[in-house]
Amino acid sequence: MKQINHIPPLQKAVSNAREEGKTIGLVPTMGALHQGHISLIKTAEKNGDFIVVSIFVNPTQFNNPDDLARYPRNLASDLRMLVGHGVEIVFVPTVEEMYPEQDTRNFDLSPLDQVMEGKFRPGHFNGVAQIVSKLFEAVQPDRAYFGQKDFQQLAVIRKLVAQDNLDIEIIGCPIIREPDGLAMSSRNQLLTPGQRAAAPHIHAVLQKARSLKNSKSPRALQTMVKEAINNHPLMQLEYFEIVDDQTLKPISSWDNPANKVGCIAVHLSEVRLIDNIYFD
Ligand code: PAJ
Repeated sequence: MKQINHIPPLQKAVSNAREEGKTIGLVPTMGALHQGHISLIKTAEKNGDFIVVSIFVNPTQFNNPDDLARYPRNLASDLRMLVGHGVEIVFVPTVEEMYPEQDTRNFDLSPLDQVMEGKFRPGHFNGVAQIVSKLFEAVQPDRAYFGQKDFQQLAVIRKLVAQDNLDIEIIGCPIIREPDGLAMSSRNQLLTPGQRAAAPHIHAVLQKARSLKNSKSPRALQTMVKEAINNHPLMQLEYFEIVDDQTLKPISSWDNPANKVGCIAVHLSEVRLIDNIYFD
């Protein structure tokens, strides 16, 4: 495993691998790695890719400066965690490397960026599109791996690739959870012990909602989830939407033939967690 901090040597290493006939797999991350990230790498390993993992806390996707300042960073433990998973290159650029000048590009992601995360984190997905497009351009991977934990992000990336006609296969990977059901997330590290103990409530409420699908309308389930989260003394609901998994438009009837996914964002004081569950 080789650490590279600059784009030209990254491109050189990747083009050498391609000349050897290897397929290139890119796993973009913001570090503070956990088993959710490792699961993406394991999928790339199964596909036999020459694996490039990027670790970069991308400032342009943070709509809240406090969130950016608080975001956990620990390169030494990230590098230890990557050992033994077939990673060839860890790309760890600086902000100056990725943004030598201000990125003023505006991506047309509508309507996917208008709802849920897009509504509550204005500019977030444009920032994600900026960094992911730069990483795609630098690495030119055959495949790129993203988690379903960030359901809307995955939809946005698929749109980006389709729109720009990029020859990159986007692989969506299932959500990895802690044994108590909490979706793994770098932000879990920021929870106090009390908040951490409470956090599995989010997944439990989603499961309960799914189990009631045959007896309640989507609207009634939305109300139920809202109450179940807001009645918890440590939690505040930001949104819960049951949406079509392709268009991300809210579903008002179970008769809608779309695949339905319930997406949630919850605040535990300063920490904001997201999760989702399929209703089919
Ligand atoms: P980050 O939050 O570090 O996540 C990197 C990748 O890991 C994303 O594709 C995310 O969906 C996936 N992931 C995170 N937690 C997961 C879990 N519990 N199970 C499965 N996959 C999980 O998402 C980002 O970084 C950034 O927005 C990025 C795409 C790197 C652009 O900056």
